[in-house]
Amino acid sequence: MIAVVVVTWQVLSARSDSAADRELSHEAAKFRGYAASSAARTPEELLERWLQLNLPNDSETFFSIVDGRPYRRGQGAPPARLDTDEAFVRSIAGATEPTYGWKGSAAGKVRYGVLPVQLGERPVRAQLVIVEFRDVIAQPSRDAAKALVVVAAGTLALAAAACWLVTGRLLAPIRQLRSTAERISESDLRRRIEVVGSDDVAQLGRTFNTMLDRLEAAFVAQREFADNAGHELRTPITVIRGHLELMSDDPADQERTKALVLDELSRMNRIVDDLLVLAKSDRPDFLAVAEVNLTELVVEVVAKARPMAERQWRVDETADAVVTADGQRLTQALMQLVANAVRHTEPGDRIAVGSRVLDGQVTLWVSDAGRGVPAADVDRIFDRFARGADQARAEGAGLGLSIVRSIALAHGGSVQVVPQNGPGARFEITLPEVRE
Ligand SMILES: Nc1ncnc2c1ncn2[C@@H]1O[C@H](COP(=O)(O)OP(=O)(O)O)[C@@H](O)[C@H]1O
Ligand SMILES: [Mg+2]
Repeated sequence: MIAVVVVTWQVLSARSDSAADRELSHEAAKFRGYAASSAARTPEELLERWLQLNLPNDSETFFSIVDGRPYRRGQGAPPARLDTDEAFVRSIAGATEPTYGWKGSAAGKVRYGVLPVQLGERPVRAQLVIVEFRDVIAQPSRDAAKALVVVAAGTLALAAAACWLVTGRLLAPIRQLRSTAERISESDLRRRIEVVGSDDVAQLGRTFNTMLDRLEAAFVAQREFADNAGHELRTPITVIRGHLELMSDDPADQERTKALVLDELSRMNRIVDDLLVLAKSDRPDFLAVAEVNLTELVVEVVAKARPMAERQWRVDETADAVVTADGQRLTQALMQLVANAVRHTEPGDRIAVGSRVLDGQVTLWVSDAGRGVPAADVDRIFDRFARGADQARAEGAGLGLSIVRSIALAHGGSVQVVPQNGPGARFEITLPEVRE
């Protein structure tokens, strides 16, 4: 805006300079024409007649000088008198050639021309002075420039006000987002941002709310986990304390109590170990990835499991492949599945372990011919501390399958119960896109 005003101002004032110049030449030409065709015998007569005939407009004035002194003045009231400026009159009075120049006056800058009057061969003793008031000519341009300044300032002010309003309205939801985010603390994750409309800001609010949903779910799960773990660990402590308090001096009773306490302690130990595995499962160093031979893996699991119980142990089928995975964690997962299979079968029942690679996807499984998983439990049993409805406390804390799931997830895979034709259960771990 400032540049526009400055440039416009310069263009307009340059124009007024040349307009003053033009006017001056025009009047001078008119005078020359008049003088050439005049029959006047003296300069006084010529000047008088011309000044009478020729009316100056608002932005000019004419006067004459005879013998070095101001003589007749043109008609009208000029914005400023220059014939009364003695120094000026003296400086131009002797002119024998047409002279032009710029000069300051009471009415601003003027362009003047001095035209000597010569009749015949006689020496010059009179001059006509034509004065153009440049600043008066420039007045309309000045008014226009002033109007431009006012309009520019007004436009700027309006634009600034509009910007302020619009950004205020735009930023209001973001401000609300910020203050909500500030108010939300770990303990109160229930707050949500009010979302109106469907613009980007609303979208941001929605994304933020979704993030809060996830955070809240994570915190709730964490709290539940801690509750369950505490509960699970408190039970053996209560049992141990009860038995120790009631223990008599009878050596046989003491022996029984000792066995029971050791049993409960080892159970606590197992729970703590399992909890540590689960706690570690989110961390990047959970897996130590190396080359794993699937046949060796399966055969080793069966060899380890065989002494656990008297069952019909089988290797179903195994892929002759080497994959990149964490062999120890996979063994740990399969051993959890095998331990479950043992618990849910009777002596002499069949338990089979196997592996297969199909389309770059590895499947590891443990199947048994036991009671099977009730349909109602299929989705639930992989959760932490989730036990089948018919499970007694002593049998486990319900962490086994969640460890299996953590190991599968850490490999980018999954675990599920696969429906079978016959009786029993079949658990499959699938690891996708494993390089052979
Ligand atoms: N092979 C299986 N046959 C039948 N039910 C099973 C089998 N494996 C697991 N389940 C069910 O899944 C539940 C969860 O198993 P798990 O997470 O290992 O916990 P836990 O073994 O401590 O009970 C078990 O309580 C049981 O009800
Ligand atoms: Mg188990």
